[in-house]
Amino acid sequence: MEARRIFEERRAVNFFDPKQELESSTLQAIINLAVLAPSAFNLQPWRVIAVKSAAGKQRLYHQASNQAKIVEAPVTLIIVGDRAGYEAGNPVWDELADMQTPEKLKETQDFARLLYGTSEERRIKFAESNAGLLAMSIMYAAKCFGVDSHPMSGIDFSGIKTEFSLQEAEEAVMLVALGYFDHSKTLYPRRKRRGYADIVEEA
Ligand SMILES: Cc1cc2nc3c(=O)[nH]c(=O)nc-3n(C[C@H](O)[C@H](O)[C@H](O)COP(=O)(O)O)c2cc1C
Repeated sequence: MEARRIFEERRAVNFFDPKQELESSTLQAIINLAVLAPSAFNLQPWRVIAVKSAAGKQRLYHQASNQAKIVEAPVTLIIVGDRAGYEAGNPVWDELADMQTPEKLKETQDFARLLYGTSEERRIKFAESNAGLLAMSIMYAAKCFGVDSHPMSGIDFSGIKTEFSLQEAEEAVMLVALGYFDHSKTLYPRRKRRGYADIVEEA
């Protein structure tokens, strides 16, 4: 699909056809395209929990304000951000270890820790900004494959953290439901957007 149409036609689809499955191969293709999203130092401080089973959907539904789309959509992704993803344990650093001297690598890691690890606010910003970009990338990648999506943050973040056994440094950043619009329903019209004149300050 033409890139411009992907932007114009992506909608937060409230109604998914519960009878239309999302092929595993399509979900994999969406994720493998979406991970081209940028991230700080290319650290990719994220992971995704794909909630597909009836039992998993029920558990998530109760942590997500009982939003029906979680039960109706074939899959809902929990987008998880890692507040400690800049630390040396992140396997992405291994790639740089092959390209840099150990001294240079340590310098880069120290710099990343300084930028992202010196306060809780920075750690949260690091996790949420990067994982948020992944979420957006997933929604546009889905559209490339003709798959509809719906982002959600009207959820119990700490409830999801407990229910899905996230690590201490991990946070649920948002949910993204994926599937196919139920054409028997009517999608509300696209709401207006504030444009350049409203949101841009030139400095
Ligand atoms: C971070 C985020 C969280 C959202 N959370 C919810 C939600 O919990 N429930 C819901 O029905 N819609 C949610 N939405 C969908 C928005 O209401 C929707 O994107 C917006 O109204 C614009 O509609 P459009 O995406 O179809 O253009 C969320 C969107 C974003 C980006």
